[in-house]
Amino acid sequence: MNVMTGQDFAQCCAMAADIILEQMRRKPDCRLGLATGSTAEGVYSYLVNAYRKGEADFSQVSTCNLDEYAELTPTHEQSYHASMNRWLFDHVNIDKKNTVVACGQGDLDENVLRFREKIERGGPIDLQLLGVGVDGHIAFNEPREKLHLFAHRERLLASTIEANSRFFASRDEVPVEAITMGMGDIMHARRLLLMANGLGKASIMKQLLMDDTVTTMAPVTLLRLHVDFTVLIDRELADAIGYAG
Ligand code: GLP
Repeated sequence: MNVMTGQDFAQCCAMAADIILEQMRRKPDCRLGLATGSTAEGVYSYLVNAYRKGEADFSQVSTCNLDEYAELTPTHEQSYHASMNRWLFDHVNIDKKNTVVACGQGDLDENVLRFREKIERGGPIDLQLLGVGVDGHIAFNEPREKLHLFAHRERLLASTIEANSRFFASRDEVPVEAITMGMGDIMHARRLLLMANGLGKASIMKQLLMDDTVTTMAPVTLLRLHVDFTVLIDRELADAIGYAG
């Protein structure tokens, strides 16, 4: 595990964007694994800026998103489909035919199978961007005694519904289920880049950075088994957990 710190959230987003841009320069037809959530959103604004300045070319890039809420139509403002369009895809020269976001509407079992096929068909992900839930979830793999390797339906825990309710008009509007890549899909990416900021993530990040155990009850800790895992945190978070590196 390689840990990097930025002065603040903005600097962390710029650093993450630089890592992604460098990957795109090295391999113009790379496959990026993308995440949603407010942390990842910050990174996308830097990618869009780089594209506008002529410093990024998405024409050959393909992407695969980690997850999608059940029940929301792809055009619902809070669906991850619509979020990705709004934050990134609509503003850069990516061919949307080369983007994969699971569909959360309709027959979910069927959608899981289709998502699995697309994950498989796209081949290995070169670089996977990740956020982390306050409960340690990765994508929507919630803390449980047993975790899934492959894409599946996941019931969201109350803590996740609570945390994500800030994006909805009320808690009742937050979907209770999602389709998500499994931990095995995520571990198969060639490189992992996890970003965390804000004191709300202090407890889980302390567990990740200051403890050498892994547990399915904090899925983020399993990422320590990956050979190319980079963690990017801001100074405030590093100080809060006593991380000096
Ligand atoms: C959602 C996503 C996760 C993301 C998490 C953190 O639950 N499914 O992939 O890591 O939010 O979001 P935020 O960055 O807003 O804290």
